[in-house]
Amino acid sequence: MLKTDVFYQGKEKTLYRTDNPDRLILEFRDEATAFEGRRTAQLSGKGAVNNQINALIMEQLQRYGLPTHFQQHQSEQASVVKALTMLPIECVIRNRATGSICRRLGVPSDQLLQPATFEMFLKNDELGDPLINRHHIATFGWASQEQVDAMIEYCHLANRTLTALFDRAGIELVDFKLEFGVYQGALLLGDEFTPDSCRLRDKASGAKLDKDLFRQGDSGVVVAYRQVAERLRQLLGPENSEPADTAD
Ligand code: TMP
Ligand code: ASP
Repeated sequence: MLKTDVFYQGKEKTLYRTDNPDRLILEFRDEATAFEGRRTAQLSGKGAVNNQINALIMEQLQRYGLPTHFQQHQSEQASVVKALTMLPIECVIRNRATGSICRRLGVPSDQLLQPATFEMFLKNDELGDPLINRHHIATFGWASQEQVDAMIEYCHLANRTLTALFDRAGIELVDFKLEFGVYQGALLLGDEFTPDSCRLRDKASGAKLDKDLFRQGDSGVVVAYRQVAERLRQLLGPENSEPADTAD
């Protein structure tokens, strides 16, 4: 598949157009950013490990019935995906309270959340990704109510699937963020699932294995991400972790 021009440059990923109008190449760069881009760094190896983790997770979600944009691992830092029209909404599931929900609602940090909560945020860095509800979405036309229902269902399916997977890897899935888009009329999971967009804790030690390490200014971010990749690879098998094709 031939990579052509840049379709979208995000803070940590770049989407390229290809010679097939229905396919994009999603490249995971070595940048790390947090706090809506106010903290940035180059972390060598982060792009490659995120590309591996994303491929393993997207394939697992597909196996469990969640339709995604993921097609194949293409090269060390890139994968082929379906070209979606993205909805401007970030969906978050939380199994344990930490981060913004503690600041917003005053709930104690580390409280187990049962049932898991579901929240939606408007994808807008300038506004700091504000919390929104389905009434805002209806009024401003950011998605249909059917799409909101499907996003809620898919997020809970992802939570059941990935909580079980990470548990087998000795990791607690604390929370995560998903983004969706439309492809030929169907709602698909888009964007990524990596330790940049979720919170993971080692079950034995409680150690953080996610982007909170970077948010807190710690070193060892890529080492932690590689530990996550290695544990997932052991569970999901080498056939899922090797690049299918390294041609560009
Ligand atoms: P929060 O506690 O900052 O709201 O984050 C909840 C989860 O969503 C956490 O796993 C990080 C992820 N997230 C993103 O991936 N991107 C974002 O822009 C935000 C706000 C959260
Ligand atoms: N708002 C998120 C964070 O603090 C993501 C981002 O800024 O890119 O990490």
